Order: sequence, then structure tokens, then C-alpha cells
Amino acid sequence: MTHALFTPITLRSLEIRNRIWVPPMCQYSVDTLDGVPAPWHLMHYGSLARGGAGAIIVEATGVVPEGRISPTDLGLWNDAQRDALAPIVDLAHSQGAAMGIQLAHAGRKASTHPEWGTEGSGSLTPEEGGWETVGPSETPFPGLAAPRALDAAGIDVVVRAFVASARRAVEAGFDLIELHGAHGYLLHEFLSPLSNHREDEYGGSLENRSRLLLEIVDAVRAEIGDGMPLLVRLSGTDWLEDGLRVDEVGQVGAWLKEHGVDLLDISSGGNQSPAPIPVGPGYQVPLATAVRAASGLPTGAVGMIDEPFQAEQIVATGLADVVLVGREMLRDPNFPLRAAHAVRYDAAPIPPQYARAHR
Ligand SMILES: Cc1cc2nc3c(=O)[nH]c(=O)nc-3n(C[C@H](O)[C@H](O)[C@H](O)COP(=O)(O)O)c2cc1C
Repeated sequence: MTHALFTPITLRSLEIRNRIWVPPMCQYSVDTLDGVPAPWHLMHYGSLARGGAGAIIVEATGVVPEGRISPTDLGLWNDAQRDALAPIVDLAHSQGAAMGIQLAHAGRKASTHPEWGTEGSGSLTPEEGGWETVGPSETPFPGLAAPRALDAAGIDVVVRAFVASARRAVEAGFDLIELHGAHGYLLHEFLSPLSNHREDEYGGSLENRSRLLLEIVDAVRAEIGDGMPLLVRLSGTDWLEDGLRVDEVGQVGAWLKEHGVDLLDISSGGNQSPAPIPVGPGYQVPLATAVRAASGLPTGAVGMIDEPFQAEQIVATGLADVVLVGREMLRDPNFPLRAAHAVRYDAAPIPPQYARAHR
């Protein structure tokens, strides 16, 4: 029996104990509406760490207030947010997990009702606490308010905000940073011809559409130094004929490799609705495999990877280098321990307090 899931992986100076990671998942739990984590976050991320995950990537965290999906998102644009994240990182470290954070700007999909806790859906009005959104162009996401197109000065503000948040992530003790370049949020909006209709050097060719992402990667790398892994989450395809294609994403991945990115977390969709997405077990794994081959970078596969042997096979056969397990980890934060039992890996990180349950 192989134990590929439990073979540590090293990215730059960071060794991660296994290849079952937790992808970013918004909790919409900042009831103070100021981007500062709540007790919920401490418990949530602590329990995921205790369950044996290799790395945990904290949910989409706004680099500026207007970059949040909703008012109850986390933020990392000030020191109070940084100082409140630090104990969460410490708690996860005490359980052996590596901690990452997904730095995000929601672009034209910002200022919406959170998934729960308010009545209504779609864009928030100013009376409901909403704000003006920004995007590459004025084209709205279907059903949401139209954004303002970013000008050169606005783009510069975004780049600097990612850098400042990255610095605070380092200060809070995070081990790795993931940039959110997927799901129809700002960086994906620039990458995708569905949302980017610019005529300047940030629009048109794939090279131009990738420019903002690559500028942010370069600026963040310069800030965080050489030791820390930098990941990018990409939508491997828009699933639409006129949208971003997987071969283009492979090319973007190759550029990201040249710019010092260490691993690509390959999801899909999110920039147009409706889209014909063939949802099913492991449905995004082929995208991770294709981008891995085209870019030369390690990739993470995500999306309905819910079974230990399914996860083991993905890593053992080289379809991806790590798996990210989302909703199954919400159903059972002990999934990594369960997977270890399934593949007969007897050195799993079982807390000594719970050891009798595993004898
Ligand atoms: C509650 C919830 C919140 C999510 N929030 C984010 C997020 O903040 N950033 C992100 O890139 N993806 C987010 N996602 C997508 C997940 O990271 C993951 O890609 C998706 O759930 C598919 O994996 P799964 O089938 O293992 O759950 C979220 C998913 C869920 C269920």
C-alpha cells in the first residue's frame, strides 16, 4: 500500500507533514464587520489542525475593505487584524499544521450578501452596508452591480495592498501565502476575456491579461523574501467557449513559475453564471494535471475529493502533488486521521489525548 498522502512535501524552506490540505473556505463570521477574526475562527482553524491536515489555507482575506466579498469577511489591511490572526496561527502550529492565508480582492464580485446571516442575496446597497466595486472593465458579473474600471492609479493601489497584507501575514506567523486568482474575483477578472475588455497593457493578449497577477507576484515576493512559499489559486477554465481555457492557464502557470511561484492550486469557474460545469467526484483533477504538465509547477487538486483512496490515488499516480479537501473537512475535520487509518499509515499525527481511540 502506498502512503503518498503522508509523504511530506517541501516548498522552499517549509516542510509540510502531509499532502492533505484544507482549501480556503469563507466563514462569513466577522460579526464586528471590521475584518478581525472572531472566536469562531480560532475554534474552526484549531479543529482542522488537530484533525491532522498538512497545511490549512485561511479563507479569502481582503487586502482592502472594498476587496471583501461581504462585510463579514476577514481582512488583513491593518495591524489589529494581523494581531488577532497571530494566535490562530500559533494554535494551528501547536497541532503541527502549516498555516497559509489566501489574500484576496473580490473585484466586481465584492460587496455582496454573505452566504448566511443576512436576508437577501446579490449586491448590497449602500443602505445595507455595500460599497462601489471595481474591476478590469465596467462589465458586471451577471446579476450584480456594475463595477468601476480600475485606472492606473487604482491598479497601483491594489498591488500595494497585496504587498502590505503579505507583510502582515509574515508578521502574523503564516508559513505560506496564496494569492486568489480564481472564482471570478479581481485577479481572475483580469485573466479572463469574459470580464477583461481593456485596451491598455492590462487587456487584450494573454500576456497583458496576466500582467496584474505577475506584477503582484513580483511585488509580494520582493516583500516576503526567498524562504516563504507563494501559491496562486487559479480557475483552470471558465468552462465557456469565450472564456479562459486550460491551455492558457497552463501558460500563465509557466510564467508564474518563472516569477517564483511554488505551487498552483487549481480550481475552476466562477467568472460567469451560468456555466456548464461537470460537477462530480474529482471533476477538477484533470485541470490540475494539465496545468502541472504545462507549467512545470507542483499543483494541488481540489473539488469533491472526499474519499481516502481517491485522494491517495491522485497523489500516488502523479495527477497532482497535494489534494485540498474542503467540504469533507467541514463534515469531518479528522479526515486526515481517517485517511491514515484507511491506507494503513501508522505514523499519523494522532494527539496523545486521543491515542486510545486509535489502538
Ligand atoms: C463554505 C465555503 C467557502 C468557500 N470559500 C472559499 C474561499 O474563501 N476561497 C476560495 O478560493 N474558495 C472557497 N471555496 C471553495 C473551496 O475552497 C473548494 O475549492 C470547493 O469547496 C471545492 O472543494 P470541496 O469539494 O472539497 O469542498 C469555498 C467553499 C465552501 C464550501
